[in-house]
Amino acid sequence: MAGGYRYFEAVEKHAGLLGVLIAIMVSIGGLAEITPLFMAAHTVQPADGVKPYDALRLAGKDVYVREGCYLCHSQMVRALRAETERYGHFSVAGESVYDRPFQWGSKRTGPDLARVGGKYTDEWQRLHLRDPRSVVPESNMPAYPWLSQAMLDPADIEARMRTLRMLGDPYTDADIAGAQAAVSGHTEMEALIAYLQGLGINNAAKTADTAAAATGGSAP
Ligand code: HEC
Repeated sequence: MAGGYRYFEAVEKHAGLLGVLIAIMVSIGGLAEITPLFMAAHTVQPADGVKPYDALRLAGKDVYVREGCYLCHSQMVRALRAETERYGHFSVAGESVYDRPFQWGSKRTGPDLARVGGKYTDEWQRLHLRDPRSVVPESNMPAYPWLSQAMLDPADIEARMRTLRMLGDPYTDADIAGAQAAVSGHTEMEALIAYLQGLGINNAAKTADTAAAATGGSAP
């Protein structure tokens, strides 16, 4: 014990030595936290049926992010009974691999939207976005009427898709070549609705069995 105390005293009395030892400890801690993140990209594979956004939905996703819909809506069903009863199987990592930036969120003024695709008609979505209270009288969601007038700008959609391909999204040359045609002439409203109507629809995690197999966990 006495020997140990001597080392302790030496470290305490030499600020330089203490600093070096602190730097070493912090580096080890930092590496332990950061290194696994470099491997994570390889371990998270798309869940069955989850595909990259086509051009129009991708443009719609940009509108969603620009308008700050995520400030009131999450896209992450938590592993809590109240959530799984309402929305279905809890979200798994493989569902969000094409979401950059991710839309998980922790703030919910409105409902979770991870699986909202197909829940309503396109017309309902249009009415709701133009004037939420026309279809849900008690709603406090803001109205977004200008989206019906704003035309999409096809100028940068190809570049966006090429960038996403660089990050690993499997877009083909044909997908990218057809992107401008797919978005030109469409309004931001149409793109946003296409995006919403696609959320969670192809997703095998909607059915508990496949998701349990994919995550190695059991369905609630
Ligand atoms: C200030 C908070 C707020 C913002 C911002 C907001 N919403 Fe909402 N949203 C709500 C609330 C509250 C509801 C529930 C009442 C209703 O249906 O209008 C809702 C409902 C919805 C629903 C129906 C969900 C369901 O399962 O019934 C959709 C779809 C939706 N919002 C999309 C959007 C989109 C797209 C945007 C961005 C353009 C957006 N919201 C922005 C608060 C918000």
